Amino acid sequence: MKNIVLTGFMGSGKTAVSAELARLTGFSRVEVDDEIERQAGMSISDIFERFGEERFRDMEAEQIRKLAGRGGTIISTGGGAVMREENMAVLRENGVLVYLRAEPRTLLRRTSGNSDRPLLNCPDPLARISELLELRKARYEMADIIVDTDEMVPGAVAGEILKRLRWKR
Ligand code: S3P
Repeated sequence: MKNIVLTGFMGSGKTAVSAELARLTGFSRVEVDDEIERQAGMSISDIFERFGEERFRDMEAEQIRKLAGRGGTIISTGGGAVMREENMAVLRENGVLVYLRAEPRTLLRRTSGNSDRPLLNCPDPLARISELLELRKARYEMADIIVDTDEMVPGAVAGEILKRLRWKR
């Protein structure tokens, strides 16, 4: 069985949907960000602060290369992972790419109150979200499956993904 790879902006619900997918399918799940933190022994925020975004992107690509080789795993990627072509290619080799799409206001609502996303620690996070989303949109939309999540709870999003995958227990 191929991997189910969740992509989407920060706050698109990848972590919550991945937990629901794991519950419904019995597959194991892994978060690329968690693996990076474990490997580096520090938080994403600290990595950005101490080494900068480019170094973080290198670490991200390295973890994605490692994780993509597995099968039957639900892989949640960080919101910026799609911007490196090599990440997309390696994830696609062994997985179905799913884009959890949401409007900037939804993303703002879902990320506010959480300060561990260095790219959104700025005076106007809504403007930053809109700006980054515009830059990333075309890459996200290369996914095999796109789900509009604004009005949906994570369980329903997971159900929709499995329906589109024609997944049967
Ligand atoms: C990022 C998203 C974050 C994390 C890092 C950078 C991004 O992951 O990888 O802060 O560039 O969108 P989540 O999408 O899981 O928040």
